[in-house]
Amino acid sequence: MIQLKTEASQALYEEANLYTPGGVHTSIRNVEPHLVFTRAEGAYIYDADGNKYIDYQAAFGPYILGHNHPYVNGKVIEALQRTDLFGNGTTDLEIELAKKICKHVPSAEQVLFCNSGSEATYHAIRLARAVTGRPKLIKFQGCYHGWHDYVARNMLSAWDMVGKRDPGSAGMLEEALDNTLICTYNDLADVEQTLQREEGSVAAIIVEPIPHNIGCILPREGFLAGLKKLCEAHGALLIFDEVITGFRHDIGGFQKVAGVTPDLTTMGKAMANGFPIAAVAGKRKYMERFNTKPGGDVWFAGTYNGHAVGTAAAIATIELMEQEPVHETIFRLGDHVRSEIRGILDRLGIQGVVSGFGSVWTTYFMDFEPKHYAELQHNDAEFYVAYRKKLMEKGIFKLPMNLKRNHISYSHTQADIDYTLEMIETVLKELKSSYKQGTEAGKA
Ligand SMILES: Cc1ncc(COP(=O)(O)O)c(C=O)c1O
Repeated sequence: MIQLKTEASQALYEEANLYTPGGVHTSIRNVEPHLVFTRAEGAYIYDADGNKYIDYQAAFGPYILGHNHPYVNGKVIEALQRTDLFGNGTTDLEIELAKKICKHVPSAEQVLFCNSGSEATYHAIRLARAVTGRPKLIKFQGCYHGWHDYVARNMLSAWDMVGKRDPGSAGMLEEALDNTLICTYNDLADVEQTLQREEGSVAAIIVEPIPHNIGCILPREGFLAGLKKLCEAHGALLIFDEVITGFRHDIGGFQKVAGVTPDLTTMGKAMANGFPIAAVAGKRKYMERFNTKPGGDVWFAGTYNGHAVGTAAAIATIELMEQEPVHETIFRLGDHVRSEIRGILDRLGIQGVVSGFGSVWTTYFMDFEPKHYAELQHNDAEFYVAYRKKLMEKGIFKLPMNLKRNHISYSHTQADIDYTLEMIETVLKELKSSYKQGTEAGKA
């Protein structure tokens, strides 16, 4: 077994801790081993000790073409040779990008740019409240929509807190918690009862069309269309948070695949292959409530909105999707990985569920297909993390945390995938005896 050398990373991590609480700039990045990264190229990332990894973490999803993609980087550099940020009017890049998004994403009659997925969901929710004149929001247990008070509750809740009042942070407004209602994903009856109980006070339902923040649980047939019907019946808006699924699962987002058009959509991540830009889009009659249009009464602003770096990167990323078989390629690799892992599990006699869509996959170590977050307590979390940690030691980067998904990019080669599958089989063989198989598995 290859033992990871981490001395250089460890020394730098100690230094990072002197200046930054916990040494990292996003809470979820504080994971052992504490690695310090120094280089990224295509499907590979490299740490300070020179370890090379095939990257499936993809920085939580943006890298759909691969790291430092030459076409995207080239377009960004080209843009920066003539433009940057003006703080007035608009730019040719903003117009070009807006046009592309409105062309491809079914719900996007109009679009506005911001810098992160959290900003996008914040704006979409506030707009829904303005449009409906109602305060409340329905979100689903296990879904993640960013760090702000409207949504930062009931994310990866402890099992005894599922569906209960579970703030994600100290310092959150009680009013925000009171106004965000929690439902069970894939359970239309639960949503309907909540809407009936709260009749006239729900402004919007926000949903990750596929909740990738808990790996990959697919929507049951009719679930997303059912949400749309319920929203229509109860006067609420439907917000698809496509920050992960947008552009990754189709150039038109998962809404195009599902054939369900929400009122509002939020996008980010794969939209610009790792560069910081996000978007909120939707029906013109709603979008025109934003005060970017004179007379609009919903505040929309941001110093860095529409910066040339993000807009040029997004244009280049979408252009490549238009011109090359990006989705076809990553979907083919994704299908191959899923079916091969199923074969490995069969050969080794390990009961597991290989779930996924397109370029994303997750292997849950449990014996039935989960439909919602609470059922994931049957996943053997210890085994899941140990498996990912061992893969990391073999040069395959999957964040060693429970319920994290894997992403394939257009830079991954068949050889990368073959090596990954070989290592998956090796690691599962090594770990097999520690698997607490069965529905009681993850309860420990
Ligand atoms: C579905 C979803 N929505 C919103 C966000 C927040 O995006 P950001 O981290 O860019 O603020 C994330 C981030 O992971 C996400 O997965």
